[in-house]
Amino acid sequence: MPEVIRVEDLRRTYRMGTVEVHALRGLDFAISEGQMVAIMGPSGSGKSTLLNLLGCLDRPSAGQYFLGGEEVGRKSDDALADVRNRRIGFVFQNYNLLPQLTALENVELPLVYRGLSGSQRRKRAEDALAAVGLADRWHHRPMEMSGGQQQRVGVARALAGQPDVILADEPTGNLDSTSGEDVMRLFLDLHKTGRTIVVVTHDEDVALHTERIIHLRDGAVVSDEEVPPERRRIPGEVQAQ
Ligand SMILES: Nc1ncnc2c1ncn2[C@@H]1O[C@H](COP(=O)(O)OP(=O)(O)OP(=O)(O)O)[C@@H](O)[C@H]1O
Ligand SMILES: [Mg+2]
Repeated sequence: MPEVIRVEDLRRTYRMGTVEVHALRGLDFAISEGQMVAIMGPSGSGKSTLLNLLGCLDRPSAGQYFLGGEEVGRKSDDALADVRNRRIGFVFQNYNLLPQLTALENVELPLVYRGLSGSQRRKRAEDALAAVGLADRWHHRPMEMSGGQQQRVGVARALAGQPDVILADEPTGNLDSTSGEDVMRLFLDLHKTGRTIVVVTHDEDVALHTERIIHLRDGAVVSDEEVPPERRRIPGEVQAQ
């Protein structure tokens, strides 16, 4: 499979007054199309910093980031926003839904920047909500849905843009274990249809739903390993001991 993501000596240093925080100290890895990868590591190890760079929400201090073969790390703000909007679907721990909008309107909103007609946007949003099992919740506002349902709206919003990559930072972090499993099941379904998915998580159970785990520590990759098939978690199935 071709590579979707490649980082070379990727670095991010935050400057706070006279103090420098070396959040990422030179990462090298590639992710192929259709892979489902977890990024793990202790608090402060650089996971969110990395995901923000991969999601074009931030720029590296040094090194290179290729997304779909294109170097994006040095682009202007507008060009970077355009890449982000076309190629990236982001799923947030706290869902980031607008409370006054319905599920359908929340999913439609980012499509406004895609140059689609109103009816095309509507169709895409309806299809995405159906894909996450929420076809009966179009007109519900976030407050009228459970956390798990809100997160599924978050996934639908990411999906509706038909991105090259879906990035999720602790997507199950605010959910109980059953709703968390539902969200991971959804990611697995998307993965089976060929989506590339990168999930940041503290939770090894969550990470074991993926096929590869990259461990960070102090801003560096300390291991990057395939999950052996006998350790992979399939939601809803009791694991053999
Ligand atoms: N905007 C910022 N300004 C300065 N330092 C920052 C900033 N964001 C993160 N850092 C620092 O960079 C390092 C990596 O932070 P990051 O948020 O990437 O960690 P993390 O692995 O996501 O942690 P957690 O598991 O707690 O979410 C930490 O030392 C953090 O304090
Ligand atoms: Mg974080």
